[in-house]
Amino acid sequence: MSEKYDKLPIDPLFKTIDELKPQFIERLSKAIAIPSVSSDEQLRPKVVEMSKFLVNELTQLGFQDIQVKELGTQPPPVQDANLQLPPIVLGRFGSDPKKKTVLVYGHYDVQPALKEDGWGTEPFTMHYDKTKEILYGRGSTDDKGPVMGWLNVVEAHNKLGWELPVNLVVCFEGMEESGSLGLDELVAKEAKQYFKNVDQVTISDNYWLGTTKPVLTYGLRGCNYYQIIVKGPGADLHSGIFGGIIAEPMTDLIKVMSTLVDGKGKILIPGVDEMVAPLTEKEDGLYDSIDFSVEELNAAAGSNTALHQNKKDILKHRWRYPSLSLHGIEGAFSGAGAKTVIPSKVVGKFSIRTVPDIESKKLDELVFKHINQELAKLNSPNEFKVELIHDGNYWVSDPFNESFQAAAKATQDVWGIVPDFTREGGSIPITLTFEKELGVDVLLLPMGRGDDGAHSINEKLDVNNYINGCKTLGGYLHYYAKA
Ligand code: BES
Ligand code: MN
Ligand code: MN
Repeated sequence: MSEKYDKLPIDPLFKTIDELKPQFIERLSKAIAIPSVSSDEQLRPKVVEMSKFLVNELTQLGFQDIQVKELGTQPPPVQDANLQLPPIVLGRFGSDPKKKTVLVYGHYDVQPALKEDGWGTEPFTMHYDKTKEILYGRGSTDDKGPVMGWLNVVEAHNKLGWELPVNLVVCFEGMEESGSLGLDELVAKEAKQYFKNVDQVTISDNYWLGTTKPVLTYGLRGCNYYQIIVKGPGADLHSGIFGGIIAEPMTDLIKVMSTLVDGKGKILIPGVDEMVAPLTEKEDGLYDSIDFSVEELNAAAGSNTALHQNKKDILKHRWRYPSLSLHGIEGAFSGAGAKTVIPSKVVGKFSIRTVPDIESKKLDELVFKHINQELAKLNSPNEFKVELIHDGNYWVSDPFNESFQAAAKATQDVWGIVPDFTREGGSIPITLTFEKELGVDVLLLPMGRGDDGAHSINEKLDVNNYINGCKTLGGYLHYYAKA
């Protein structure tokens, strides 16, 4: 990757983006105010409201051929059998056959958030801290900031009276945080229709590794999410009356969940590690030049609890090895105090982050086989069920293609530094589908920093990252157009 390149005359664009800063912050604040939490069935109307907000914004900016694609009812497991999936919002800006066409994907749903979780301010009211120049709110970095970023780029071109250098196609979904249900089918269906002529897919839905150096990302882990249901008595019971004389669902569940992973992060399900692609010498060398440290990990985690003490091991375990996390137990007593209850039905949730060459279906088989064996060992009269809730593939690409080159130039224009090339430990289920169905390259071009706290309390986006992020997205389109 060369550091020297011919600069494009796009300073007026950067200047206009600076001038529009108040409007851009206002746009993000309106988006954050809609609690579009996809995993909460009660909040589904808000997810739909968010899709309408986007349609309205796209319309005002002059997007054409705006389509709202309904995806039907959400498949089980769901509480409401008639629950409708939120729609996919499609739009295009320009359709000049002489220009390249870039599809940008983002998600308008967010993770749940409650003030009581420990937020300093209301999660769904954007808080602009003017001394620190930071924007707080659920979705600020994941992924409403970047989605607004693409709209902001168009607004800046409109204000300047400039054409976009490419035809832009947008694809915004409302179920990413819940496994992108229905999107695979839509992408396959539209590959030769709405997405015909797309040359490249860009996704801004990830983060810098640390807090100071921009990155471009060429890999993601996949994610298979499972639940174990254990059902015993017909209702929650008094442990003084029934304790010791009936089989307790929690006891069975905890026993089985404890056989999945150990405290050092080693996955205990037989056969999983054997599917992981061996580390080559070339790959091992790639980690040396990446800017990262155990201190940065500790700072982002807010603790000194790292399982690995050197940069390379940390990065390998985040990017190229699988991990298994235990997420929670639905139905368990979880309040404060000391309730003497025997929960009647508990549902244990866990997921596995997948990497090359783990086959998703094979992994499911290994997981089901292991859990069923462990359940059988318990010899318990309770009822059990293990199910997959959703799965999504890992993705690894070539960071030397022309979209990465173009993004590197835009990044240098804006930040004055050559970006690191990174992979991520998180997942964006649709990435591989775009690559396969459209037969084009995908680029991950992040806006936020590694300490933004996606999914956590006090999620934030630095104003600097928001505004310079818009410049990077816009600059990228110009460099890619010329590539
Ligand atoms: N923006 C993240 C993906 C991500 C996470 C990228 C961490 C880089 C680092 C995305 O919104 C997300 O959270 N995805 C889910 C997908 C899952 C539900 C299949 C995830 O990774 O947990
Ligand atoms: Mn995201
Ligand atoms: Mn997320």
